[in-house]
Amino acid sequence: MAELHYLGHSAFLLKTDKLNILIDPFIKGNKFSPVTVDKLKDIDVILVTHGHDDHLGDAVEIARRNESKIICIFDLVERVKNAVPMNIGGTIELAENIYVSMVQAFHSSNSVGFVISINGTGIYHAGDTGIFSDMGLISKLYDVEIALLPIGGVYTMGVQEAVIATQMINPRIVVPMHYDTWPQIEVDTKVFARLIKEETDATPKVMKPGDKLII
Ligand code: NI
Ligand code: MN
Repeated sequence: MAELHYLGHSAFLLKTDKLNILIDPFIKGNKFSPVTVDKLKDIDVILVTHGHDDHLGDAVEIARRNESKIICIFDLVERVKNAVPMNIGGTIELAENIYVSMVQAFHSSNSVGFVISINGTGIYHAGDTGIFSDMGLISKLYDVEIALLPIGGVYTMGVQEAVIATQMINPRIVVPMHYDTWPQIEVDTKVFARLIKEETDATPKVMKPGDKLII
């Protein structure tokens, strides 16, 4: 069993039996974060999708406090120190039956997405991205059951694209992220949830910061 905690924006904490994995820990500048940096304890691994401030966030400080590994694309390694570099298409075993695969994203700043696989259940964090048709291939390769997709528009795909992305990925559950943090990316999540129900086979789970999903 694992728990997926939403920390607002694109930040998530995934607690498994063996490891605590933090993704895109934008905490201090994130007005919705339900935690402060010093409350994030026993973090084993931090996944960073790219170097923009709202994703790299407080990764370096949290890693220093917790002696966590940071996993990121090779080109970001210099900025974070003690990182585990990888690149798109690669997979690393984090613990028994827990794997992380790095997948592509369409954005600037050498962005990527990640699929974390826990006992065969794939959780896809798309990072910052526009829509691309190989999202379907990612799902086929890594058996995506839960998709975390940006919906805010402007800097990433918006609701319309996220609905089509969900059709391609065909997850059991889709969780929206990267919205409402700033006025430009405000979204009516009721519209998102309705369209997902009407146009896909997935269940929309709109998580409030601090909410958790049992996996
Ligand atoms: Ni970005
Ligand atoms: Mn972003």
